[in-house]
Amino acid sequence: MINKDKIVILDFGGQYSHLIANRIRRLGVFTEIHQPTVSVEDLKGVKGIIYSGGPASVYAENAPAYNPEILKLPVPKLGICYGHQLLAKQLGGTVQSGAVKEYGIADLILSEPEHPLVKGLPKSSPMWMSHGDAVAELPTSYRIIAYTKDCPVAAVANDQEKIYGIQFHPEVTHSKYGNKILENFIAICGCEKSWNMKSYLPIITEQVLKQVGDKKVFLLVSGGVDSTVAFVLLNRILGTERVLGLHVDHGMMRLNESAQVKKFLDAEGMTNLKVVDASETFLKNLEGITAPEAKRKSIGATFLQVKDEEMAKLNLNPKEWMIAQGTIYPDTIESGNSPNAELIKTHHNRVKEVLDLMDAGLLLEPLADLYKDEVRLLGEELGIPHNLVWRHPFPGPGLGVRLLCSDGKSELPGAESIQGLTAWLAENKIEGNLLPIQSVGVQGDGRTYAQPFLITTQGLDWKACENYSTGIVNRFKAINRIVLEIGSVSKEEPVLVRQFATRENFDTLRKFDNLCTEFLQQNGLYEQIWQMPVVLLPLRAENKPCIVMRPINSSEAMTANFAEIDFALLQKLWGTLQEAGAGSLWYDITHKPPGTIEWE
Ligand code: XMP
Repeated sequence: MINKDKIVILDFGGQYSHLIANRIRRLGVFTEIHQPTVSVEDLKGVKGIIYSGGPASVYAENAPAYNPEILKLPVPKLGICYGHQLLAKQLGGTVQSGAVKEYGIADLILSEPEHPLVKGLPKSSPMWMSHGDAVAELPTSYRIIAYTKDCPVAAVANDQEKIYGIQFHPEVTHSKYGNKILENFIAICGCEKSWNMKSYLPIITEQVLKQVGDKKVFLLVSGGVDSTVAFVLLNRILGTERVLGLHVDHGMMRLNESAQVKKFLDAEGMTNLKVVDASETFLKNLEGITAPEAKRKSIGATFLQVKDEEMAKLNLNPKEWMIAQGTIYPDTIESGNSPNAELIKTHHNRVKEVLDLMDAGLLLEPLADLYKDEVRLLGEELGIPHNLVWRHPFPGPGLGVRLLCSDGKSELPGAESIQGLTAWLAENKIEGNLLPIQSVGVQGDGRTYAQPFLITTQGLDWKACENYSTGIVNRFKAINRIVLEIGSVSKEEPVLVRQFATRENFDTLRKFDNLCTEFLQQNGLYEQIWQMPVVLLPLRAENKPCIVMRPINSSEAMTANFAEIDFALLQKLWGTLQEAGAGSLWYDITHKPPGTIEWE
């Protein structure tokens, strides 16, 4: 076991489990996510169990399967939302479907402020509610310790068996004292708060030494945070002689990024990273391609080709070498209730070749138990400079998914062909244009390609932006994304042009991306914002490129909210970009869902 004290989260689907697990780790206790069908043996030694939220209804036919024996384990249990309803049902209570629908913030009022689960909370505090079903009849062993106006059973306790249930979501930031509740639960479980990267380093060292034995380790280093930390970690544990890294430069990295990583590694004596400049091959294969998925496929296929060629040159004897990769924890877990489990697997470092290597014990994933924020803290623990470790996440295909390509022709409809749009805009006094391009979005479990709408109305505040953005996307299916004009050199509608994945265009995008990054750093915003893709569109204003910035806040990228940056600062940024040759600066005001983080 990685850590003496561990809390397990049973994953009933949705997005909640990783958030809960991550929050508890930040409070200093190791967590693991398991399917609700996990065997009792696999839970041996755990100090507490959390039943997560999920989208199903407890009586529904498609409700996630679970192991009822888990309830008998003599450790504290906490049910959250769906988990709370399931525990109530298991203990003899009833759940009513759609009785009260509560979405949003509700005031949680404590009826027993001294109860160990809610101790330290104010008598009334805001908590995030998101449920259609609710516990109706209480199991006889439960008593109510807190309620809201619409939900009489907001928090319950069975102190004898240490089983608790809460209808709200303590793991989301909208729940002001949610962390305090999780902390109280940790205390009820009797966990020591000893989980941190300093205490983890000796544990991972021992694990790596054991798994590697007398072999050597080969690692592909993308240059991003995870693989850089994995490379440095392996070097520190095994020494430079037993580790070899390969960095394939695809020509789509951020400005000076590869060079900065290489400079740090060289200074630390880690000269065992082989860098191959394959940008020419990547760009040649991308010639003439415009469709986003085709672009992705081309980059992926070229990568495999170059990697295979380079590895053949290295001629590594499989009897001597193992492969390592920088997979992190969220990539190893599929959601308990996801209809797309297969797709999720293929997207997340779990393709067949990797599974075969794992079965043969030849795959090393030293970061596979860690969340992104923990990888960064581990990186700092290993002495990697702060600015390298706290770089924003960057997709594998790099700027390849941020340079939108077009053959310059569009058969997409104009605003007047979308029924009701013009009237709605007039009614709401919104001016703007439907852009003659498509970008990727996500609705339900599917990816969508639809048109972005540009709002040119000036003087809106962020709340109004959010309302219009949600209002337009919800009403008009043909639109999945909204951008707000920060500045433009022209009052005319932007013009669609031919644009392909060429070195020159990547250089242009790199330049604007770097100016936007510097802007965040200079204004102390870089670490407040989780990620900020900068996109070069195939649109021109007075023949100058239109740029989109997409600053978002997120936890693990599964959902995201657009970030709000001060409008006066944005005007300064527009001035800088304009000087550098930009035609327009647009700000993406779409949450995910419905808009993905990347534009593609
Ligand atoms: P989307 O656009 O799907 O992105 O909302 C979610 C997060 O994943 C990153 N991303 C990728 N990361 N390879 C990666 O390693 C990829 O192909 C890829 N595509 C998207 C994206 O930057 C965001 O953080």
